[in-house]
Amino acid sequence: MYKITKYSYLFSTFLLILATTSCKEAKKVETEITTETAEQMSAQPISKSEFGTLPNGTVIDKYTLTNANGIAIDVISYGGRITAIRMPDKNGKVENITLGFDKLEDYLADNPYFGALIGRYGNRIANAQFSIGENTYKLGANNGTNNLHGGPEGFDRAVWKVTPKADGDKSVLVLEYYSKDGEMGYPGNLATVVTYTLDNDNQFEINYEAETDKATVINLTQHAYFNLSGDFSKPITDHKVKIDADSFLPVDENLIPTGEIRNVSGTPFDFTQSKTVSKEIDADNKQIALGGGYDHCWVLNGVTGTLRTSAIAVHAASGRKLEVLTTEPGIQFYTGNFLDGTLPNPAGGYYGKRSGFCLETQHYPDSPNQPKFPSTKLEPGERYKTTTIFKFSIE
Ligand code: BGC
Repeated sequence: MYKITKYSYLFSTFLLILATTSCKEAKKVETEITTETAEQMSAQPISKSEFGTLPNGTVIDKYTLTNANGIAIDVISYGGRITAIRMPDKNGKVENITLGFDKLEDYLADNPYFGALIGRYGNRIANAQFSIGENTYKLGANNGTNNLHGGPEGFDRAVWKVTPKADGDKSVLVLEYYSKDGEMGYPGNLATVVTYTLDNDNQFEINYEAETDKATVINLTQHAYFNLSGDFSKPITDHKVKIDADSFLPVDENLIPTGEIRNVSGTPFDFTQSKTVSKEIDADNKQIALGGGYDHCWVLNGVTGTLRTSAIAVHAASGRKLEVLTTEPGIQFYTGNFLDGTLPNPAGGYYGKRSGFCLETQHYPDSPNQPKFPSTKLEPGERYKTTTIFKFSIE
């Protein structure tokens, strides 16, 4: 009965599209990507629409994943960016909880990686260079003398090939990007596949996979900024955060890890028990001063490669909760200290300081230059594979 109803819905949507298209309004038409098998019918349909056009004429598409509990996630092919995550609060009020723009132009302009897939190397590489064996590779410096998030034209600015799919009751987007040998200075042709999956347990799973044909380094992540209140005019400092990490990586004045792995105990970096972000974010502490707040990598407890809950953020007033599970060894907790009120918030006003936080799962910054850190090297014949889950709930 359910399937028949659903089928009729898809069929009527199809007729609607046909009618709309024949009315020559095809451009902004929302197309339902229909599925064919009975098994696939149980997934929520993924809608697709045109988001904008690059100066070279390439059309950028927007896909919307939805689940049975009223969560909707928008993803665009430009940078594989998550442009919105709509989620009900404890009273059922649906609001967007991730910072983004409603116009492609705003993503093309300078912006701090809102919602983007980051590659080839998330976070900083000191002096924009590293060596593998005898070969030294020079990268673009786009953060003082550092290479940040892959360089000036990183994966956040690539156009990804996006294929929507259904997997049982899960909605899936497969994103592919082929980065050529030498792109942004990194060695090796790198074939990257990122899979976004939304399920009915409110889990948004991100699977990263890559292969190279020459020894290289890789550290992929997702740069979504969250504000679980749904009100981006408010800072995220009222959220409570827990990070399952007994130590963190102190940085120098260029935000490059010094190499020390420091215990969090007795420092503002102790999030082993859930703590309101405001509590010590402006503490009189050298590391806090260097980051302008939190902008550091925590060394996660547990075994790298094992999917475990590594961070939890809760916004009490709305009841919204985000859990981050990952196979990665580290997490960059960045409290949006550099947001400065100049970028437009489509809901009105501008994104102010600390209006969003990121929990970027990753290997440690500058690993290619720090032999004591877990290796980020990828050799031909190996397959890079990591998983991160953003799990949403109400408490
Ligand atoms: C970094 C910040 C940086 C931000 C935007 C974060 O991942 O840790 O230092 O400002 O990205 O570029």
